[in-house]
Amino acid sequence: MAKDIQPAQAEQARQEEYSALVRTVLISHFDPREPLAFVHTYGCQGNVADSERIKGMLGEMGYGFTDNIGDADLVLYNTCAIREHAEDRVFGNVGALKNLKKAKPSLKIALCGCMMQQQHVAQRIQKSYPFVDLVFGTHVIHRLPELMYRTLCGGSRVFEIPSEDGKIVENVPVRRDSDFKAWLPIMYGCNNFCSYCIVPYVRGRERSRDPEIIIKEAEELAAQGYKEITLLGQNVNSYGKGLDCDINFAKLLRRLNDIDGDFQIRFMTSHPKDCTFELLDAMAECGKAAKHLHLPVQSGNDRVLKEMNRHYDREKYLELIHYAREKMPDLSITSDIIVGFPGETYEEFCDTLSLVEEVEYTSLFTFIYSPREGTKAAKMPDPVTREEKGAWFKELCQLQESIAGRRTAAMKGKVYRVLCESISDKGMLSGRTEGNVIIEFPGSPDNIGKFVNVKVTEPRTWMLFGEEVK
Ligand code: SAH
Ligand code: SF4
Ligand code: F3S
Repeated sequence: MAKDIQPAQAEQARQEEYSALVRTVLISHFDPREPLAFVHTYGCQGNVADSERIKGMLGEMGYGFTDNIGDADLVLYNTCAIREHAEDRVFGNVGALKNLKKAKPSLKIALCGCMMQQQHVAQRIQKSYPFVDLVFGTHVIHRLPELMYRTLCGGSRVFEIPSEDGKIVENVPVRRDSDFKAWLPIMYGCNNFCSYCIVPYVRGRERSRDPEIIIKEAEELAAQGYKEITLLGQNVNSYGKGLDCDINFAKLLRRLNDIDGDFQIRFMTSHPKDCTFELLDAMAECGKAAKHLHLPVQSGNDRVLKEMNRHYDREKYLELIHYAREKMPDLSITSDIIVGFPGETYEEFCDTLSLVEEVEYTSLFTFIYSPREGTKAAKMPDPVTREEKGAWFKELCQLQESIAGRRTAAMKGKVYRVLCESISDKGMLSGRTEGNVIIEFPGSPDNIGKFVNVKVTEPRTWMLFGEEVK
């Protein structure tokens, strides 16, 4: 067991006491009505998983949940700081809460997540958004009961943004959004300090969860009938570092694969510098591991990769891709790419184009570089204009569009196992293939949350249409 688990459990017991206190306070304010919380999440799946714990705790405190912000007694935004655009949206949406609060002075407004972990943001909220009641950072999410108690009973605004890494606190209640797809964090934080990235500053150092706790959680999910478990971490390939037991990500994957049940395992994100042949072998040999690898490359140029502090080069990346394809011929590969990193030239960007052409990704998440205060890249000279970067970005998107179209066209006539997820606007069943491509087909809503076999009849660039085969 990790050495910090005991004090963490004492902390958890303390929070349960606060939770009971809040419940009493809420009953005295709202009885016979149930107070309602509106929780909105920005950013990555790590944030979505945090919000499921936030909702778990709020549920224990006595809150019900609403999708209608006008009905809410508590509005909570879990924010993201990855790019400027993400932050601008949050500031805009928080500004819009001013009128809501005016119309309903009893409304409590809370902000948390990566954006709030930055001092300059918290200061701006303190100064310019006086109607916000509670702001808390990423390291104290498990202390929400105590923070809510202070917000409801303390009579003043609460700002709790300690800078030290949170110990991993287990047994926080979880209210999952889906009853067939589950997020399972296996680690928190990031040690990599890619020069453009804010995550290590707002999420703290890398910490892995105890493997026995992860396996127990996965066993419970499988027993409850979950069909997909996605393992989460900023760099899952370095899972296990710092734990005093014989584990790494490949071994964890094999142990999870041994759990009984009809479910598939996904994971994200894999950092190429720590992606090993051992992991790719494990992935190939584990029947439950979906044959989809999200392996963000960021750039195809070695000088840019070095400036980004990524610790791999084009050759090592392509070696991984070739090995993975050799072991798993049907593997679907996706990636993240940053266009216009400071100092990147058009010639260097062309190396990214040629790499994209060579790998033939299923799909790409493409981003124009956004300077983040406090990171190394934000201080680098950045002479290329936004317009030029926009033109490069478009060129990359067009290239990927033609590759994606070729790849989906080759899927025509083939049968894929699909996890049905929802009903589309057109009344069709919508799901994803193992390779994470969206497919729509006529079928019964009773199949939502189940695996069915679907034959591709009509491929489009970014999605497929098909028909169920029995
Ligand atoms: N841990 C993951 C990435 C998490 S952030 C990894 O290392 O792959 C998701 C993506 O956002 C990154 O892969 C990167 O492509 C993009 N991103 C991060 N910081 C950015 C910035 N400052 N500007 C533009 N894109 C950025
Ligand atoms: Fe950011 Fe790099 Fe960590 Fe990913 S690995 S979260 S890109 S610092
Ligand atoms: Fe955003 Fe934080 Fe995730 S910055 S991408 S929510 S780790």
